[in-house]
Amino acid sequence: MIKLSLDRDGDNPLYVQIREEIRKQIDQRQLSVGDKLPTVSQFAKEIGVTQATIRRAYEDLIKEGLLGSHVGRGTFVCDPSRSLSPKPVKETSGVSRNMNLVDSEFLLAARRLRMGIAKNLDDLMILAQRPGLISFTSGIPDPAFIEEGVLQRLALDALKNGQMPYQGYGENLGMFELRKEIARRYSEPGCKITPDQVLITNGSQQGVSVLAQAALESGQRVICETPCYMGIPRAFGAIGHWVESVPRDKDGPIPERLYRLGDNRQTLFYTCPELHNPMGTDISSSRQKVIVDWAQENRAIIIADQIFHDIRFEESSPTSFLSELGPEQTVVIGSLSKSYMCGLRVGWMISSQERIQSIVSLKRAMDISSPPLMQGIALSLLKSGIYDDHLVKVRQYYQERCATLLDALKKYMPEGITWTEPKGGFHMWLDLPKGYSSIVLFLLAIEKGVAIAPGPTMDVDHRFVNGFRLSYAPLSLKEIREGVELLSAAVVKLLKESPSEPGLSGLGDF
Ligand SMILES: Cc1ncc(COP(=O)(O)O)c(C=O)c1O
Repeated sequence: MIKLSLDRDGDNPLYVQIREEIRKQIDQRQLSVGDKLPTVSQFAKEIGVTQATIRRAYEDLIKEGLLGSHVGRGTFVCDPSRSLSPKPVKETSGVSRNMNLVDSEFLLAARRLRMGIAKNLDDLMILAQRPGLISFTSGIPDPAFIEEGVLQRLALDALKNGQMPYQGYGENLGMFELRKEIARRYSEPGCKITPDQVLITNGSQQGVSVLAQAALESGQRVICETPCYMGIPRAFGAIGHWVESVPRDKDGPIPERLYRLGDNRQTLFYTCPELHNPMGTDISSSRQKVIVDWAQENRAIIIADQIFHDIRFEESSPTSFLSELGPEQTVVIGSLSKSYMCGLRVGWMISSQERIQSIVSLKRAMDISSPPLMQGIALSLLKSGIYDDHLVKVRQYYQERCATLLDALKKYMPEGITWTEPKGGFHMWLDLPKGYSSIVLFLLAIEKGVAIAPGPTMDVDHRFVNGFRLSYAPLSLKEIREGVELLSAAVVKLLKESPSEPGLSGLGDF
């Protein structure tokens, strides 16, 4: 226990007194490197102050590098001479994280630039909503697959089984039976998941927002693979994180680029290891191994986005981060949004029991609880067998769409265009030859009656100018064939121009 003498009537705010007392104890070696400090709630109770006061004192010392905090493990005394937080990180994606005046201006300017480009790209993408276009941009399941009346039946079933619970707010972690079912589905040989390791969220997106909040409180650094589903870096960016990026290719994040960001024991790294959005491919086992080594060396936490987990065309999933790295260093996010229906907004987060416990109050502060009735519907869906029958059908259905797209690309695309071969999910990534802009292609394609998602809309730093994503999920086979034929005509027109340098904007010469 830390002994403090506080002057409660003095002018000096309590958090300053606590901060300075801890600093003094570190200086005088009453507290040594590696010592664990009490949790915010414990300490607040012990000395009779609010949790916000303790949090503020800890945060200041974390910024100075005197303390370090790890979600799920607590707050520790650090060796400031080894801490990276107060020093500039040598190699980042171009932006130092040092918060002195010049750097914070630099960071702000970079953030505004990123946000400005993102906004302009969003405006551009409005063109893709024009009626009559064949749109390869949608990332939602085909609604035709939800049998008429099934939701009513599931809701009645849930109401019958749940009786009273739907009228209240519901359990903090989410409905026990639903967590048990998710735990069962994610347990692997050698890695058993218990219901206490599962937090039910409003879609996996909310799970990321909760993690972003926790990371801000504990001063964690955030890295995202890129290209990626942009909802993730946006969730982190929305509350003030500067998201660093690591490029990936069809085999997964490029480990050398991860190592180049320097070591840091407070890192969250987001990746979509299986059936990646936008590439449709899995991380290779050799890449996964190096990333596991990197995470172990840096004690980093991996956020593994497994939202497409259930829409694999053939068996043979890659081994999961959860089983290779363990739940202490892994947070899996998933939901029913892609495999069944995004409107249910039922998702989950799986990690160690300690981490789940440490973030549940943040989730509660956001929404009190996920809607109990929706959880009841999800539980009926999973337990009744309707979901598993649905999966058998949709896997075959999306596989056929994907195969049709691959055939059409082979038939119509001119030479020089390459593409990934998805193993499941909804998306495929294509590359134009270097020097050609997918934004120009987007405009030419709209003219022809087709919409695509240009690479910069899927990249944390808005580059990947010659890449683009095609989504096949809600299109008919006929639309896919016709769409590729029209798109190919736009590509042929584009390739008639000479290639150009990408230019400073990174968005190409358009
Ligand atoms: C890869 C990926 N992860 C997460 C999400 C968020 O989905 P939800 O919040 O509906 O679970 C999406 C949505 O498109 C996605 O594509």
